[in-house]
Parts: sequence; structure tokens; C-alpha cells
Amino acid sequence: MSVKEKSASLARFKTPFYFYDLDVLDQTLMSILKESKRYGYKLHFAVKSNANKKILERISSSGMGAECVSGNEILLSLESGFQAEDIVFAGVGKTDDEIIRGIENNIFCFNIESIQEMEVINKLSSERNRTSSMALRINPDIDSFTHEYITTGIQESKFGIGIHELSIAIQSLKSMKNLKLIGLHFHIGSQIRRMDVFKNLCLKINDIQRWLEGQGIITDHINVGGGLGINYEDPDDLPEFDQYFSVFNKNLELRNGQGLHMEPGRCITGQAGSLITRVLYIKKGIKVDFAIVDAGLTDLIRPALYHARHKIENITSDEPSEKYDVVGPVCESSDSFGKHIDLPRSRRGDILAIRSAGAYGEVMSSNYNLRDKAPAIFSSEI
Ligand code: LLP
Repeated sequence: MSVKEKSASLARFKTPFYFYDLDVLDQTLMSILKESKRYGYKLHFAVKSNANKKILERISSSGMGAECVSGNEILLSLESGFQAEDIVFAGVGKTDDEIIRGIENNIFCFNIESIQEMEVINKLSSERNRTSSMALRINPDIDSFTHEYITTGIQESKFGIGIHELSIAIQSLKSMKNLKLIGLHFHIGSQIRRMDVFKNLCLKINDIQRWLEGQGIITDHINVGGGLGINYEDPDDLPEFDQYFSVFNKNLELRNGQGLHMEPGRCITGQAGSLITRVLYIKKGIKVDFAIVDAGLTDLIRPALYHARHKIENITSDEPSEKYDVVGPVCESSDSFGKHIDLPRSRRGDILAIRSAGAYGEVMSSNYNLRDKAPAIFSSEI
């Protein structure tokens, strides 16, 4: 059933709120797991993309692992049913407390991003008489052709160890007795829809592996991060995972017994969530009218931060369409969900669905202007 078909049920709730369609989530999970199992790839859900506990519980019960970027994400993942041995801990600036949390919880792997971080994790592990497993995050210098704020694998990115430093990193590792190198980690960006970008990543990894092999290093696994994009123009179009996995299957030269790990986020939860909001006022503009709604950038910051465009639907009007600037109530001109948007003629009280908001939506919300946070409502509750 589409969001529009659910409009009568959705209209009963106080807006704004996040609406999660669990059928869409389940369908996406089933499809990604089916495709990944064909190749034996191991998935760790990127918790940063959606940290709603109910969503996490559903994802953990599918058997997926978690990718965490803070001590709190590790705790929430454990509370939500993820197994410690399936948790990877990434992040360019892990604090000592967070590292200790990872060590004490026996997580699968630290994805380490600098030589200094290796030294700190080695020391904190040694003080606890432990050996921590690690993957080296390498910056492969690959352009992902996505928004500059979510491009992470080009030379000037703060992420990962540059290829120029790889040799020193490998050398330093030899004296770090409380670290065990088990993997190589890469993540080149997010909302990537071009498969040739992932192919380029594979080819670069092949080169890096060959070089490392020359140094006598073969790791248990390669982790290629996340990044697979979704179709924001057509929110009912669920991601096709077969193409994505087959790029890795065709182009990445895995060694005997070497596992491939991935950290998908957006492509799993993105299309399952919508931000539901009410039109408060229609205000006459010079060229187009404003539809002022009760959700703002505090609820969904992606349009303001990345100029992202989420499809907007008026789910309670079937009148002929008109153009609107759809804006929120926050005191910032960037608090706009879209300009010149075609919507059925809209009136105060109409309900709009801002689609494809299941990833980096609720989790990035704030209380700016002391606004309440939008709650989450699930399809099982309506
Ligand atoms: N692994 C690592 C190391 C990451 O940094 C990320 C995302 C992922 C996996 C998951 O990537 P995904 O599959 O979701 O593309 N707030 C931005 C996106 C930031 C992505 C940060 N890293 C947005 O709303 O577009």
C-alpha cells in the first residue's frame, strides 16, 4: 500500500513525524540478504544512517552485523541485538573512552584511520592484556562523483591512511604486539549511483593488495564500506542489489579464503521512511506561493545541508497541480524542502509526505529553536 493510500490513517497523528513502512524495510532486507548470500559477502549495517531502536532490532534479527562510529552506537547496537563479534568500529576520531568500550565489549574489528590511532589502541589494549583486531582504513584516492560533503576517498579527505603513508603504517605495526591486522577497509563516499565508481575502487584495491602481498601481508578480509545510493526521484523504486554485488564479484580479486565485508546504510532504510508534515499556511509569493509546513530542517536537514531533493507528495489533495516553495518554520532561509515543487492545490491542514527520508533523517534531527523532535510511527501501528 502506498503512503497516499494510508493518508486517512496517517492524518490521525500529530505532525510532524517519521513514518516507517516495515514492509518496505523487510522487502529491502530480504533482497539485499538474498543477493549478498549468493556471493557470501558479510554485511554490517551503518548505524549512523538510522539509529531508531525498532529499526535496528529488525535489522539485527536479519543476521546482519553493525558498523558503528561512536561508543554510544556500539552500546545501542548491542542493546538492539547485534552480536559483538559482528560489530566494526570506524571513525577518524575515536576517543580513549570509546576505544575502551570497544575493547571491553570484544568487538570484531577496529577500522583504524591513522598511525597515531594504531599506537593508542595498541597501548589501551596492552594495558588490558588484550589483542585487538584491526583493519587499516586506506584512502584509495578515488572520486565518487557525489556531493562534496559526502565524498570521503579523495586525496584531501581527512579519512583513512593515505597510500603515501601505507609503508610506514605497515612498518610501525610490526612493533605493536597488541594489534592484529585482519582486514583492509575502504569507504569512498555516499549516495553513489554510478557502478563504474565501485569498479574503480575494486581495481585500486587489487593494486594495493598486490603491493601488500609483496610485503608479506594478506588479510582475512577486505571491507569496502558503504555508499550505494537510492533513487530520490522515485521513492517506490527499491534498490537493485544484484548489479552492485556483481561489480565486486567481477572486479575484486579476493585471495583464497578472504572474506568481503560491506557497510551499507542508506540503501537499506532510505526508501522505508517518510517525514509526514501538515501544511500550516499558504502564503502568496511573487512568483509562486509558499506552502509553510510544520516540519523543518530540525527534522530533516538533508535539503539544507546538501541541497538534497526529496520527493514531496500531498497525500490528501487530488486537485489540479500548482507550484509551491515548500518551507519549514525554522528561522533560517535554508529551511526549505524544495522550490517550485508541483503539488496538487494545497490548503491549510493538508498532509505532505517527504519521501526517501529513512536514512540520515530522524538520526540527524535536532532541537534547534527548541523544537520537539519528530517521533517515529511504524506501519504496524496505524
Ligand atoms: N561506512 C562508513 C565508514 C561510512 O562513513 C558510511 C557513511 C557508511 C559506511 C554508510 O554509507 P551509506 O551506505 O549510507 O552511503 N549524512 C549524509 C551521508 C553521510 C555518510 C557518512 N558515512 C547524507 O545525508 O547524505
